[in-house]
Amino acid sequence: PISLVGRDFLTLRDFSKAEIQQLLWTSLCLKDRIKNKKESFRPLIGKSVSMIFQKRSTRTRLSTESGMVLLGGHAAFLGPSDVHLGVNETIRDSARVLSRMTDIILARVYAHSDVEELADEASVPVISGLSDKFHPLQCLADFVTLQEHYGYLYGLKIAYVGDGNNILHSLMYGCAKLGIDLSIATPAGYEPDPDVTQELIRMYKQKKTQFCMTSDPLEAVYRADVIVTDTWVSMGQEEEKTKRLKDFAGYQIDRNMLKEANANWTFLHCLPRKQEEVTDDIFNDKNSLVWQEAENRKWTVMAVMLHVLQDYSPLLPKPKF
Ligand code: CP
Ligand code: NVA
Repeated sequence: PISLVGRDFLTLRDFSKAEIQQLLWTSLCLKDRIKNKKESFRPLIGKSVSMIFQKRSTRTRLSTESGMVLLGGHAAFLGPSDVHLGVNETIRDSARVLSRMTDIILARVYAHSDVEELADEASVPVISGLSDKFHPLQCLADFVTLQEHYGYLYGLKIAYVGDGNNILHSLMYGCAKLGIDLSIATPAGYEPDPDVTQELIRMYKQKKTQFCMTSDPLEAVYRADVIVTDTWVSMGQEEEKTKRLKDFAGYQIDRNMLKEANANWTFLHCLPRKQEEVTDDIFNDKNSLVWQEAENRKWTVMAVMLHVLQDYSPLLPKPKF
């Protein structure tokens, strides 16, 4: 049995293949029990999560709040103007106080080092709700969505076309751990961080699966099953918008680009979406799984919150991932 009790969830880099699969399996099981079978399952009665948000959010906030309530617990949302954190109280002092009042801290921050500092000082598990470097909760939701759609993950080919950002960094570790082929197309100057890339090259060398990086979207999408993109202008980069729109010319996902993909292609986008990175045509296509993906943010964060507080054995048979 796999125990994740007491663990922080800041990046998939820290988790083994078996541990990630456990989280996916539990997510699918919670969805089955609570959504499909209408079961009332409240293992977290009396527990609470404090949610520090230094940036806006629709999905991460709602999935955590509504998911914690479904599991029987309570969620306290602390927006940028609600808490002293980083303004007139240090991260370390805030971490100590929140640890004494709540059982989990979930934080959406700018610098990844902020969430690391929180985790270092907190005595309760810290879950990242996105940092400049990673967005691991999103990656879990993406994998659950693909597992539901294809019935397996190992051997799929994902093409990521767009900015080398937090979404991509998490996808890179997730794919390497689960044996998913990954090809990446970014414009020059927008590649993923070199520390992640170097490590990925090492991780993929030990496996049969493939990893490739290019600046040509058509090359990346060639024979891909899954096409993934994200905004070209992440939160905090608003003033770079004009330059970025220019630099990303030719990277919009459209029907022509998808001619290179496998016939069974699907499309993922973490949302919020802007039109420049994907045409309406593809975004609204029946092979676009974006709404299912958004919903799965809920079942996956529930699995993470449950597992960092207590062990859980899913009732569903283990899927073939
Ligand atoms: N995908 C995602 O994290 O969305 P929010 O910014 O709305 O939380
Ligand atoms: N890369 C985006 C993801 C939003 C969920 C951002 O950081 O703004």
